[in-house]
Amino acid sequence: MTIDGPSGAGKSTVAKELAKRLGYLYIDTGAMYRVVALEAREKGNEAENEDTFERWVSSLRITFLDRGGDVRILCNGRDRTQAIRSPEVSLLASEISKRRAVREALVRMQREMGEGGAVVLEGRDTGTVVFPGAEVKFYLDARSEERARRRFKELVEKGARVDYEETLREVVQRDQSDMTRSLSPLRRAEDAFLIDSTGRSVEEVIGEMIRLIEKKGEEQ
Ligand code: C5P
Repeated sequence: MTIDGPSGAGKSTVAKELAKRLGYLYIDTGAMYRVVALEAREKGNEAENEDTFERWVSSLRITFLDRGGDVRILCNGRDRTQAIRSPEVSLLASEISKRRAVREALVRMQREMGEGGAVVLEGRDTGTVVFPGAEVKFYLDARSEERARRRFKELVEKGARVDYEETLREVVQRDQSDMTRSLSPLRRAEDAFLIDSTGRSVEEVIGEMIRLIEKKGEEQ
């Protein structure tokens, strides 16, 4: 199953919950782009040519660890779950995700992780590029003000000092960049169910998704 859409649409919350209810593995592909962005920033190797950079990205051992619903992301054994969530890393990830080297290496890893089935992948291109043949696809959207409000609340709860207007600007800027890049831009797969989460609770959205999954199952 794949769930794509812009930032703050509620993808992570519903993807985690659906994975839990279905007993599936949850794969947060955005976290993988964030890890690459953070590691590259620390290493200072962003200027390397595409082939060298791809070899480096491919050499990273990115793993997810599910500790009873608390999903951690590790890179070469080091827990990066907290460090990748800053607004700075959000923008760096959006920039680095435009690179061919990064997309090719990460898509390969994601396909390996999901090849056994029983997975919920969440991101921007999981239904269009990573698994175009996925059984059920969703495209989750919401109005940008609401998405920025959710992102803002999340950051405040984590203790970050942020400003709502700035968060809104960042959300709009990142969507723009994700939707207009030349490689795997964010778009709805033709066979993805479109769900708008504006003004709706998590339970309502998950309820609709489960009904659609069941309906799809009956049709097959
Ligand atoms: O979902 P999240 O906000 O963590 O993703 C961070 C960034 O990684 C996105 O803004 C996007 O540029 C990139 N990304 C991507 N393809 C994916 C998932 C994320 O390009 N499948």
